[in-house]
Amino acid sequence: MSDLLRAQDVYVSFYTAKETVRVLNGFSFSVQPGDIIGLVGESGSGKSVAISAMVALLGKTGKIDSGEILFKGQNVLALNEEQLRDLRCREIGVIPNNPKGMLHPIVPIGTQLENRYRSAHPTAKKEQARARAIQALEMVQIPDPVKRLAVLPGELSGGMAQRVLIAMALINEPNLVIADDATTGLDVTVQSQILDLIEAQVQRTGSAAVMVTHDLGIVAQYCKKVAILCMGKIVEASDSVEELLHNAAHPYTRTLLSATPGVPRKYEPWVDPPKAAHMAIPAEGCILQHRCRNCRQECLRSQPGKTEVAPGHWVDCCAAGEVK
Ligand SMILES: Nc1ncnc2c1ncn2[C@@H]1O[C@H](COP(=O)(O)OP(=O)(O)O)[C@@H](O)[C@H]1O
Ligand SMILES: [Mg+2]
Repeated sequence: MSDLLRAQDVYVSFYTAKETVRVLNGFSFSVQPGDIIGLVGESGSGKSVAISAMVALLGKTGKIDSGEILFKGQNVLALNEEQLRDLRCREIGVIPNNPKGMLHPIVPIGTQLENRYRSAHPTAKKEQARARAIQALEMVQIPDPVKRLAVLPGELSGGMAQRVLIAMALINEPNLVIADDATTGLDVTVQSQILDLIEAQVQRTGSAAVMVTHDLGIVAQYCKKVAILCMGKIVEASDSVEELLHNAAHPYTRTLLSATPGVPRKYEPWVDPPKAAHMAIPAEGCILQHRCRNCRQECLRSQPGKTEVAPGHWVDCCAAGEVK
């Protein structure tokens, strides 16, 4: 099947007067129609930056140094501003993890939803956009949607604001929904309602979803495929979440699983937490050489290559599967 989205060997750095920070480090990732993929990594591993790169929204200081991002075969990095707006508004719906910060504080939520709809449907009448906004609020199970149209974001609870953001991301029925840690901080019931909703949307429309999280428990419950991100690079990926949860081969994945409740198999933690908020990527050898307790001579010299440890299950580690 052809890819809906493909990121190929992407390097991203942030350039400020003080320093240059490389965040994505050979990031490769692909999504096919119908996929529900978990993109998992510790805090600071580059998950949000990877998403921003996919929709070419890295801000003034962020730059894609090399690599390619294709959406439906089109080079995202070559799109003009109007095409990018269309991509972000109609094709890829990103649900960010900071609801209040992402909604305009003094514009009623109904107007924000209508504007979002009309930017993808410029000829739509006001009433049509309003009807669609009500429908979108109903979809995320916000009670009394007609009344809520006039509400300002500040009047909503965190959970309600998060649902509005989901309604914003889904209102134009995008082909790809990316939920960036979208349920962190919400209570478990709301969290599962929201994830159920995204799952239902994917199934109903034949679209795809990427669930970005540090929680492999969420992945175990909702995703079919999974990719593990470490220091800006996918170090392990599997077309079957079950396979990865039972036969995790990378020391970093095993470390994540050592701290995850409710997974079928527990491992020992092999990788230490980063020693600084942003640890520099070593110039040579494995990116984890300063953190991995299983690091050996060869890891200092050469980058591990990709090994297929089971059909559709890849890992980037010289000692894949050796640590217990
Ligand atoms: N605008 C920026 N300028 C400089 N560094 C940044 C910027 N945005 C993110 N980073 C750095 O990139 C790394 C990854 O960030 P992020 O993608 O937000 O992590 P995650 O979402 O996995 O928690 C962090 O070390 C962060 O400090
Ligand atoms: Mg993030």
